[in-house]
Parts: sequence; C-alpha cells; structure tokens
Amino acid sequence: MWLVLEILIVCCLCSVMTDEHTHIYDDNEEVVLWMNTVGPYHNRQETYAYDSLPFCFGSKERISHYHETLSEALQGVELQFSGLDIEFKVDVPKSEYCGVQLNEEHYKTFVYAIKNHYWYQMYIDDLPIWGIVGEVTDSKYYIWTHKKFEIGYNGKQIVDVNITSENKVPLTPTTKLSFTYEVIWKKSNVKFEDRFDKYLDPNFFQHRIHWFSIFNSFMMVIFLVGLVSMILMRTLRKDYARYSKDEDIDDMERDLGDEYGWKQVHGDVFRPASHPLLFSALIGAGHQITTVVFCVIVFAILGELYTERGSLLSTSIFVYAATSPINGYFGGSLYARMGGKLWIRQMLASAFMMPALVCGTAFCINFIAIYYHASRAIPFSIMVAVTCICLFVILPLTLVGTVLGRNLAGQPDYPCRINAVPRPIPEKKWFMEPGVIILLGGILPFASIFIEMYFIFTSFWAYKIYYVYGFMLLVFLILVVVTVCVTIVCTYFLLNAEDYRWQWTSFLAAGSTSGYVYLYSIYYFFFKTKMYGLFQTAFYFGYMALFSAALGIMCGTVGYFGTSIFVRKIYSTVKID
Ligand SMILES: *[C@@H]1O[C@H](CO)[C@@H](O)[C@H](O)[C@H]1NC(C)=O
Repeated sequence: MWLVLEILIVCCLCSVMTDEHTHIYDDNEEVVLWMNTVGPYHNRQETYAYDSLPFCFGSKERISHYHETLSEALQGVELQFSGLDIEFKVDVPKSEYCGVQLNEEHYKTFVYAIKNHYWYQMYIDDLPIWGIVGEVTDSKYYIWTHKKFEIGYNGKQIVDVNITSENKVPLTPTTKLSFTYEVIWKKSNVKFEDRFDKYLDPNFFQHRIHWFSIFNSFMMVIFLVGLVSMILMRTLRKDYARYSKDEDIDDMERDLGDEYGWKQVHGDVFRPASHPLLFSALIGAGHQITTVVFCVIVFAILGELYTERGSLLSTSIFVYAATSPINGYFGGSLYARMGGKLWIRQMLASAFMMPALVCGTAFCINFIAIYYHASRAIPFSIMVAVTCICLFVILPLTLVGTVLGRNLAGQPDYPCRINAVPRPIPEKKWFMEPGVIILLGGILPFASIFIEMYFIFTSFWAYKIYYVYGFMLLVFLILVVVTVCVTIVCTYFLLNAEDYRWQWTSFLAAGSTSGYVYLYSIYYFFFKTKMYGLFQTAFYFGYMALFSAALGIMCGTVGYFGTSIFVRKIYSTVKID
C-alpha cells in the first residue's frame, strides 16, 4: 500500500518537484554544476554517464540538493555533481580542479569518444550547456582541458550560461591531463522568463514554411470536406430517391433484384467485426491515446513545458494514467455491443496494450543499452515503479471505465436488424478490395502531416528543442479531420461494393497513415541523420516503430469513430422491410 501511495505521489509530483529550486541566489551562494551525460553529437538519444569517459571530478564533496524524477530516469538523465566550486557572482580565475594520469585503456576510450564527436552535457540552474570532448586534426587527437564558464545574471537570477573549451592538449597514452576551469560572472539584461529563448531555433522552425504547410493542409481539408459532403449528399439523395421510389413498386419486382449498392448490406453492416476482442481493445486504447495527445499538446502550449527537464514525459505519463477510464469506457462498451462475453480479457488487453508495447520495445532496447553501458538502460527500480503504475493506477481506472461502458452504452441499439445468415460478399474490381482501400487510405492523412513529422523527428533526434506546440495542435486537428473524411469516403465505396466488412477496413485504412510515417522515418534515417552501429539503429527503429504504432492506433480509432457515426446515420434512414 505504501509503495502504491509513494508512486502516486511521485507521479503527481513529477511536474511539481522540479520547482524545488526557487532559482533565486544570494551573493556567494553555491551554484551547482551538474554533469549529465556524454554521447555522440549525431544522436542525442544515445547517451552515457559522464564518468563512462575517464574524466575526473572536482574535490568539492558537499551536495546541497539533488533530485531525480521518474521521467528523468526514463529519459536517461543522469546528474552527477561536478565537484566544481562555483559561487554566485564570485569570479574564479583559471584553476585546476583535477588531473588524470592516462593509461592505455583511458587513451583508447578518449580516442573513441573524440572520433565519434562526443559531447558532454551539463546543467547550471537547469540551463543546459554543451561542451565538446576533443577534436581530430591531421589524424592526431586533441582533448580540450580548460572550461571557461561565462555566466550572466540578472538581479538574483541566472539567465545565461556560455562555455568555451580552451587549451587543446595532444593525447598520448602516457599524458597527464590536468583539467582546469574558470568562471566569469557578467551582468545581463536577459529576463528570467526569456532565458530559454536562446535555445530555441526560429531559423529551423521557419514559421513561413510552417504556415505554408498548414495553409496547404488546410486547403486540402476544405477540399476534402467539400468533396465528401458533395459526393455523399448527391449520391445519398439519389439513393434515397431510388429507394423510396422502390417502395411504390410491388414486392415481386423488388425480389427480382433491382437493388444494388450499400442498402443491400443493411442486414450485415452491423454484424460484429471479426476478432471483436482485439478490435475493441484497439479502439479503447486509441481513444485514450487521442485524448492523451490532445491534452499533452494543450498543456505544452499553456505550460511551456520545454523549459523543465523531462516534464513533458511526466505530464504524458500522468495524463495517460488519468485517462484510463476513457480506454475502458469505449473499449468495454464496444465489446459489449458486439456481444462479447470475455470482458475481463478484453479489459486486460485494452489496459495493457500500450504499456506492453512501450515496455516490450524498451525492454529489448534496454538489453542492447546495458551491453553498451548506455545511460539509456532503465534502472530496475524504475521498471518496478512503472509496473506498479500499470497495476495499481491504470488497471483499476480501466476497470471503472469498462464497468461504466458496459452498463451505460453496452446495448446494441443498431438501426437495422442483423440477418442470421451472413450475406456472401460479391466479386468486385481489384481497387475495391479492402486491402487496396487500406493502402490508399493513409496517403492523404500522411500528406497533411509529413512536414510536421520532419520537425518532430529533428527535434527528437538532433539538438533542437521543439516549442511550436501551437502548430502541432493545428496539425493534429487537421489530421483528425482529413482522416475522418478519407475514411468515410473509403467506407462508402466499400459498402457500395456490397462488402460489409467496414469496421476493420476503416480502422486499417486510417491507420495505414502510420505505415507511411514509418517509411518516411526510414528515409529520414538514411538521408537526414548520421547514425550508425547496432545500438543507434536499434534505438532509432525501435522507438520509431513504437511511435508509428501509437499514431496508427490513434488514426485508426479516429477514422473508425467518424465512420461509425456516418454508417449509423445513413442506415438509420433505411426502412427495414
Ligand atoms: C553568451 O554568448 C552569446 C553569443 O555569443 C552572447 O550574446 C552572450 O552575451 C554571452 N553571455 C555571457 C554571459 O557571456
């Protein structure tokens, strides 16, 4: 019970805990320099602990505060006290803080790091600083040994930190390296609220390109919505006219088979999808993911989450756990309407689908990370904490949602009766086959998001901070509208071909967007990144697969949700004979 409580508290405090610093310093007060991680410049997601390189720490032992949250651990943040003596507004002249006598092994490690363009990352008062380990000139290896910190202050607050690496020393297996540092305090006019602005890169997130792509997608939306409503209104009106005329014709003539098109399948269209358990679990999880994405984007806009380490991830975990009832409600009610009896199994599948996907991927990558001693390896205690959140928060909340969903919305109240015997599906042209429709369905939604995908990928895999969440929200909304429109059109064609298997088809047609995103990520890997080696490749493709899967479930659910409303609507006007 204690453990549960503790985890709940940790979970709730994740976003609050980082506020433990007031960010206000008195003169001569200790300023802590945290060493975070080292890693290759070309992949910022591959990180190792700072002391995995034979660096040394200063002699100062005392640590006045230390914090590490769940999400920091998940993101591979590994703060270590540097031991450097830095005090607020006290300049330090160039002085040695430690020395290392290199041996053969140290030498090889440094050479490897320099060859791979390793950078180390530090934090001062939550402001990140990056320094380069060394450089290669004419196949000789040099290491930077002097760190010059220039810290800007405004009143009692730190608003700007620069580091300059100086004093290049050639590396040999027997050198004695002495590491030095220097601190210069400068008055600065930067406001505390704006101190993260210099990390944002407006040139990269060119607003013009962004607006242009949004404008394009928006045009597409208008075009699609217009197309959908026009086609459907005209066709449906024609269909209705034909069907209502039919009513005057006597039964004889009707039995001769004058009818064709979507009305023919009214006795099968509400037949439960095949694999109802899996289907409703996917739909439940999809509703939850959609809600989480929407909430996190809104929180990010309101809260400028990028200024706190790991706060985006903590927010996501928290929102995910809190929205579990949505998963249970939609999954459980759909399963009940499909006449499913194994509701406990369905609930477990719904609740653990995403956690299992995430943990499964993380687990595999963890193995490789442990082998490479990367700081990405998730500590055992964190795994226990995540398992506890799943078991004691997500599961009960999903149960509540499922029970509510089964009781409130579990009655099949379809407008048409389901025939006892399934109707055979007639032969149709190749492009009306569900497989083809599924493949085509994802193209337009992908086209509406791929420019944003480029920005998101680049900020995740390179040193860019993503901060244009307003655009992201717009793109999200556009994606939802485009997906719904495209899926409705696909389903209409499918039903007109008298194929009633629309549930899976609409889900997969919308979900195939993620297939295109994954293909794009493969292109991105080869042409836009400079990653190599097993660890980076596995890490990249593993997490991209996870991202695509989540996106696919989300789009699929959005598509299915829109389509099911549409299908209800058109069949509710059909008179059942
Ligand atoms: C840090 O570097 C930037 C750009 O070179 C400069 O504008 C700023 O004044 C520097 N800050 C400090 C505290 O030296």
